[in-house]
Amino acid sequence: MNNSQRPFRLGILGSGKGSNFVAIADACAAGVLPATIAVVVSDVATAPMLERARERGLPARFIAPGNFRTKLDEAAETAYIKALREAEVDLVVLAGFMRILKGEFLREFAHRVVNIHPSLLPSFPGLEAWKQALDYGVKYTGVTVHFVDQGVDTGPILAQQTVPVLGGDTPATLHARIQEAERTLYPAVLAALARGEVRVDGRQTIWRAPV
Ligand code: GRF
Repeated sequence: MNNSQRPFRLGILGSGKGSNFVAIADACAAGVLPATIAVVVSDVATAPMLERARERGLPARFIAPGNFRTKLDEAAETAYIKALREAEVDLVVLAGFMRILKGEFLREFAHRVVNIHPSLLPSFPGLEAWKQALDYGVKYTGVTVHFVDQGVDTGPILAQQTVPVLGGDTPATLHARIQEAERTLYPAVLAALARGEVRVDGRQTIWRAPV
């Protein structure tokens, strides 16, 4: 994906705590993820993720999402596209961004938006996937990193990691174990993308070497 000498540029979108953002930023700083964080954007003005980004001296912006609850309105979509374009991002990284992206945004960044989901997709798409897994009674759940398409949690899968469900787990303990797996899987997949080691062919992602 990145054959030039220019560093691979990430635009990170999130709404919350930012534990995935921190793992990605630490991996960039340590040199294990050969990329630069070009911009961090949130739809929540008070998101701790923005504070974590500012502490690291990274450009961090709140961009108002508009009046819808689960998506961006048209003006907001245009503003998000403009911010990411101005930052010259190669890849848009969703890290707990709680709004569905579609239409114009996905056309602008076709095959250049990735997400991390806290289950083994296609099981348990949507909200609180760890709770869905616990309620269902599965013995293993996990983490999925995937490209984003027009559906919800349906895009081509890049990588998955299993996480056991243990007797006595609560939603909080299972979520914490899943988040621990996220913090290693996401930077590793982003590093492979930054190195141009993965390409997408329809629903398949083709890796030069497994993650
Ligand atoms: C993660 O659990 C991720 O799977 C989901 O949103 C959560 C974000 O957490 N997409 P954080 O803000 O990265 O701590």
